[in-house]
Amino acid sequence: MNGEMVENAIRSGRIDGGENNRRVSFIFAAVYTGLLLPGDRIMGLDTPSGGNTSHGYYTPHGRKVSSASIFFESLPYKVNPQTGYIDYEKLEERALDFRPKILICGGSSYSREWDYGRFRQIVDKCGAVLLCDIAQINGLIAAKVCKL
Ligand SMILES: Cc1ncc(COP(=O)(O)O)c(C=O)c1O
Repeated sequence: MNGEMVENAIRSGRIDGGENNRRVSFIFAAVYTGLLLPGDRIMGLDTPSGGNTSHGYYTPHGRKVSSASIFFESLPYKVNPQTGYIDYEKLEERALDFRPKILICGGSSYSREWDYGRFRQIVDKCGAVLLCDIAQINGLIAAKVCKL
């Protein structure tokens, strides 16, 4: 679902753009509150690129649709639209400018392997904590179908 689709779904009443979408997710309670203060910066894969709104997301009109985007500053990184792979060069450049406290890898619908070594290099350069959200692929990791 891209940002315009989220906006349309909210407008048409098919999804709730209000408090129900601002729920406190597990990742928020377990990780963010332990490591961050309100207003701290996080970076995750953009929701339209296959990330998850719990990693911070603003619709194209700036609507904040999760607690992560309400309480923290978030800047997404994206896939290259030509290849469908994460653009690691741009991610590194954005991370070095934005200096997030947490850089998140993992998402809801990114159908490629994650280059964890590359993420490690980037967090080491920008001084962030690397958080891997394996909510969707933990079974595949346990079965050794996906790397970790
Ligand atoms: C990658 C990922 N992280 C987090 C979540 C959301 O977790 P929670 O229900 O704790 O908000 C999902 C939900 O599908 C997800 O796919």
